[in-house]
Amino acid sequence: MAERVAVVSGAARGIGAAVAKRLAADGLAVGVLDLDAAHCADTVQAITEAGGKAVALGADVSNEDSVAAAVGELAGSLGAPTVVVNNAGILRDNLLFKMSVDDWDAVMGVHLRGAFLMTRAVQKYMVEAKWGRVVNLSSTSALGNRGQANYSAAKAGMQGFTKTVAIELGKFGVTANAIAPGFIVTDMTAATAARVGVDFEDFQKATAAQIPVQRVGRPEDIAHTASFLVSEGAGFVSGQVIYVAGGPTN
Ligand SMILES: NC(=O)c1ccc[n+]([C@@H]2O[C@H](COP(=O)([O-])OP(=O)(O)OC[C@H]3O[C@@H](n4cnc5c(N)ncnc54)[C@H](O)[C@@H]3O)[C@@H](O)[C@H]2O)c1
Repeated sequence: MAERVAVVSGAARGIGAAVAKRLAADGLAVGVLDLDAAHCADTVQAITEAGGKAVALGADVSNEDSVAAAVGELAGSLGAPTVVVNNAGILRDNLLFKMSVDDWDAVMGVHLRGAFLMTRAVQKYMVEAKWGRVVNLSSTSALGNRGQANYSAAKAGMQGFTKTVAIELGKFGVTANAIAPGFIVTDMTAATAARVGVDFEDFQKATAAQIPVQRVGRPEDIAHTASFLVSEGAGFVSGQVIYVAGGPTN
């Protein structure tokens, strides 16, 4: 079988970097996409040093031209991408009465518009190949979370988007699924701890105590789930939302 090519957005660090490394270890060639190509260097280097194939791609996922250019560049270098992991994300937390229109639009732009633009750009290669995998990052915040009206709406939106892509592209051998992580140790959760004025280690301990498996999540926990969803054997799993949160969610 020909080598599969994946593109992972927001892969300079955190969950995206772990997913990119894991897919490369699984044998895929990986486009490591983030706002600044230079920031992707560590992820690309880790992949190539381990014997994998990767290229750095600089793009803003919320910008149509930027996405088209990056996906075109990837197709021209590593080959046509048939796996997309929509992982790029930002937080602009605030209580509703203090949330600005910019806070709302920025979050919708990166998560929802970004996933739409990336998936639309890659789907033509999937349809041509009659095979594809779409993995979207949702969140337990999709179920509602104080201070995150914008983010929870976007992450719930990712679930509806995922199910619709699964319905539309299924006949082309494409699956679409969402991963909804709970608390994962990354710069994003470190920034949340800093914003509420709590030491990050203490924040993690307090969070772990509330989680049935009694620990916080690591980017590798999400990478493992993404690896499964992208795998050849997962072709009958589609339109699903997998909560990866160390316990049930409500
Ligand atoms: N960390 C968690 O606990 C957690 C929980 C649930 C869901 N998630 C989701 O997982 C994903 C990754 O989160 P993380 O914790 O690794 O975050 P992170 O902040 O560590 O990394 C996000 C990456 O996305 C990139 N990015 C932001 N805007 C972009 C844009 N417009 N175009 C391209 N790249 C952009 C950033 O530069 C960064 O490298 C996000 O979608 C996040 O919402 C995270």
